[in-house]
Amino acid sequence: MERVFVVDNSILQNSLTKIRDKDLKPSLVRKHLSIIGKVLLIEALKNEDIKLKRIETWFTMDNFPVINEDDYVIVPILRAGLPMMEGCLEVLEDAKVGFLAIKRNEETLESKVFYERLPELENKTVIITDPMVATGGSLIKAIEIIKSKNPKKIISLNVIASKEGLERVSKFKDVFFYIGAVDPILNDKGYIVPGIGDAGDRCFNTL
Ligand code: URA
Repeated sequence: MERVFVVDNSILQNSLTKIRDKDLKPSLVRKHLSIIGKVLLIEALKNEDIKLKRIETWFTMDNFPVINEDDYVIVPILRAGLPMMEGCLEVLEDAKVGFLAIKRNEETLESKVFYERLPELENKTVIITDPMVATGGSLIKAIEIIKSKNPKKIISLNVIASKEGLERVSKFKDVFFYIGAVDPILNDKGYIVPGIGDAGDRCFNTL
């Protein structure tokens, strides 16, 4: 079964190109990361199980399909995963949200978890939002933590992955990856090239 999808979507590519422009201002970086998060989520959940809900329409009383939004937990990786989370919540407004803060040491590129606040994940579908898969270290840490809590399914939404990073994270054979683009270079400082620079700094004006 295929588990790694590079999503071919013009709206996503249009937003990504805007973010790649180094002069795009932080509010718009956040806005377009949110759009990309939403597009990736729509793609990832397009064939989800549905249940029927009885509702009163303007003219009738009938059953209509709905997703059980309670079964979903969105986990943004702080900081840069936050705008993508916003886009996901626009689609799944009743999903729960858990947080993982993971920072990499800019010298060793080693990732360290320094905050974890997760709701019950057992039997839930967990949607990770993490825009940049560079070495893959942070995402691997996040997946290991989430897997240890026995979710039903893990979906990772990522804006750009490096080839190396994608190769490393896809060792998890039971995780589904939805990615906007795979960029060719991971430089010696651990940045993706052409990429978008430091996603957290670009979002929150901390350059
Ligand atoms: N994290 C970022 O924000 N950007 C990169 O290019 C790599 C890691």
